[in-house]
Amino acid sequence: MLNAPFVLLFALLLTLPLVLLFAPRILSPKRVAITLPDEIDDLSLFRRAVRSTVQPPGSVSRLGATNAKPKIAFMFLTNTDLHFAPIWEKFFDPAKSDQRSLYNVYIHADPDSDMKSPGGVFENRFIPAKKTQRSSPTLISAARRLLATAVLDDPLNAYFALVSQHCIPLHSFRYVYKSLFQPHTKSKPKSRSTRFPSQPSRLSFIEVLSEEPQLWDRYIARGKNVMLPEVPFDKFRIGSQFYILTRAHALKVIKDRNLWRKFQLPCLNVDSCYPEEHYFPTLLSMEDPKGVSEYTLTNVNWTGSVDGHPYTYSPAEVSPELIRTLRVSNSSFSYLFGRKFSPDCLLPLMDLAENVIFRG
Ligand SMILES: *[C@@H]1O[C@H](CO)[C@@H](O)[C@H](O)[C@H]1NC(C)=O
Ligand SMILES: *[C@@H]1O[C@H](CO)[C@@H](O)[C@H](O)[C@H]1NC(C)=O
Repeated sequence: MLNAPFVLLFALLLTLPLVLLFAPRILSPKRVAITLPDEIDDLSLFRRAVRSTVQPPGSVSRLGATNAKPKIAFMFLTNTDLHFAPIWEKFFDPAKSDQRSLYNVYIHADPDSDMKSPGGVFENRFIPAKKTQRSSPTLISAARRLLATAVLDDPLNAYFALVSQHCIPLHSFRYVYKSLFQPHTKSKPKSRSTRFPSQPSRLSFIEVLSEEPQLWDRYIARGKNVMLPEVPFDKFRIGSQFYILTRAHALKVIKDRNLWRKFQLPCLNVDSCYPEEHYFPTLLSMEDPKGVSEYTLTNVNWTGSVDGHPYTYSPAEVSPELIRTLRVSNSSFSYLFGRKFSPDCLLPLMDLAENVIFRG
């Protein structure tokens, strides 16, 4: 027979995980929380994506017999309409049939955005999406959902470029494709492996910074010492939210459980909370420091940033000179994308598309 105190204790023990799970929501009702069902749903997607890439021993790769070229997965993360869809449509130029087989498009649109499909290359490219919110780990989850879906969708997806609705291309598709797939290694690994002799070693293009003054505040945004032992402060990094990852790194990101356990914790200090600017650079620089460029190929103007937002270009500033200036970088690569542009820049940008942006 059970006595009352025991039942009470048992009930308390059972509810404890639920309390811990929902506490962030109860404490700050305006924050979007990642619920347990959402988390389970994501995990099953990530598992399927990882499993899809594992070849049974002795089997011939599905791609073994084809000469198909690698593709770029363009992943649009947005919580509004895609203002610059007409420019991207020109960038992808689906009329060029040789180009059509070199990319895929995926969109994660916040369900609250009521986004209208822009049609064209974006038609039927929406992935199952969940609510996102700034300064919360939901942006990490959304990016991981895009990566997992793109990994699952097409084994030829070799690069995964994350962009937002405020990003524009700064070059033609041809140029972007050639830049990414030209051989480039940060430091040539002397690999003895001859299993994949034709596989060039590729870099991920993600900013990784360790000297930024705000790093400590960002590190303790969830409370002191909570990131330990998985993420000691000297491994904590900051970088751009938008990046281009190799397939190997996309897989590392969707396989990760360890760091996610920490980065999914809600921030106590919301002013210093930008999990999506830390999770990806921290994880990849810990797991494969030689495989990341440490710089981004998306030009963002942080001069005079307001409320954590970078400078937003307005129509009057759009000019051929601006496009040319934004391309110039300190790395051996030209910037491929630019951010942020206000939605009403569409018309002046369209005027430059043919003769400036996509010429080169
Ligand atoms: C970056 O933003 C500042 C305003 O904060 C502006 O004056 C400057 O021209 C911008 N840089 C470029 C390259 O457009
Ligand atoms: C290149 O590096 C120099 C020196 O660090 C810096 O002053 C300049 O702003 C950088 N230019 C760009 C386009 O990043």
